[in-house]
Amino acid sequence: EKVVLAYSGGLDTSITIPWLQENYDFEVIAVCVDVGQGEGETFGVEEKAVRSGANKAYLLDVRKEFLDEYAFQMLKAGAIYEDKYLLGTSVARPLIGKKLVEIAEKEGAAYIVHGCTGKGNDQVRFELAIKALNPSIKIIAPWRVWDIKSREQAIEYAEARNIPVPVKKKSPYSMDRNLWHLSHEGADLESPWNEHQSSIYKMTVAPEDAPDKATYVEIGFEKGIPVYVDGEKLDSIELMEKLNELAGKNGVGVADMVENRLVGMKSRGVYETPGGTVLTIAHRELERITLDKDTSLFKAMVSQKYASILYDGQWFTPLREALDAFVDSTQEMVTGTVKMKLYKGNCTIAGSKSPYSLYSEELATFSSDDVYNQKDSEGFINLFGLPLKVRALLNKKLKEE
Ligand code: ARG
Ligand code: SIN
Repeated sequence: EKVVLAYSGGLDTSITIPWLQENYDFEVIAVCVDVGQGEGETFGVEEKAVRSGANKAYLLDVRKEFLDEYAFQMLKAGAIYEDKYLLGTSVARPLIGKKLVEIAEKEGAAYIVHGCTGKGNDQVRFELAIKALNPSIKIIAPWRVWDIKSREQAIEYAEARNIPVPVKKKSPYSMDRNLWHLSHEGADLESPWNEHQSSIYKMTVAPEDAPDKATYVEIGFEKGIPVYVDGEKLDSIELMEKLNELAGKNGVGVADMVENRLVGMKSRGVYETPGGTVLTIAHRELERITLDKDTSLFKAMVSQKYASILYDGQWFTPLREALDAFVDSTQEMVTGTVKMKLYKGNCTIAGSKSPYSLYSEELATFSSDDVYNQKDSEGFINLFGLPLKVRALLNKKLKEE
């Protein structure tokens, strides 16, 4: 029988190949899904899989789909988990799950195998995606099955089978990278009292190491989607790479937090989301001038729910689809340009404009105008304050009794 293995090229997924062949007699199809984890991880990954014994290997470049249909949809929704996490890992998992299902169907594989531990969120996200898209596919999660517990054991297992073990010393952190972000978990980060070391950064620099001069960048949005950087139209991959570079070198986009995992525990993570942070703030600023007050307030509730949906792996659900319909409707007028100032870890607004701006200088001005009649305010305040007045009169009466 055939299995599709979610393959990263790392030691763990490499030893999974012989493990599946020896214990289940499976034919192993290794699938590496490129969401922008970097050339270092994707270059030559098919050969690597085959060298580790895979019967067949795929490398799928889904970077554009990842940004256009997943990350930018999340951006439009304004989803932020627990006020800090920009959901970079969460938003990639459903798409990876979808691609695994597609290959499994094409190859006639009955199983999908993933390398997530039994303690995390990722197992839930992959498996919910698979169940939603093809419930007949069975799932194997080796970390919930085998006895390999340490890196030493994994190396021993690999060496006994002539599987190439990476020579360079592995980072002690559990990391996950794509075009939107990079996450770090584990090792010294497991104590929330330990300050994270800026030497772990791969997409950003410490504010201390950032230039002393600010970088300004203008981002142009069309219906909530970023399409221009400094007036130049870029495709989503170029745009993301450009903003990651500009924001990263200014130290923008690090979030260090303790979060609530879906499986019940709290965990500590450090996230680098340079370009994503700039986009998130810029998009929110554009909404400030283009959305009316009530839509904006209601959308904040949707954003929060959308974040939970993403974090909890519920992408392929009717509720996410329904919320997307709402989100897309709110974005009709979210077109315009936002000027951002990037300076030593900070990302602040330096200007915003839109052909659909609801902001009226004519109305807001402190100088005299003839659209707003200040006399109208008196009657408005009388009625707006009526309940306060009624209550105050009652209190006065009660005190006198
Ligand atoms: N805690 C984050 C999340 O749940 C990041 C998970 C990173 N995953 C990984 N396999 N390293 O989305
Ligand atoms: C894992 O446990 O496989 C990674 C962390 C997570 O899924 O939350």
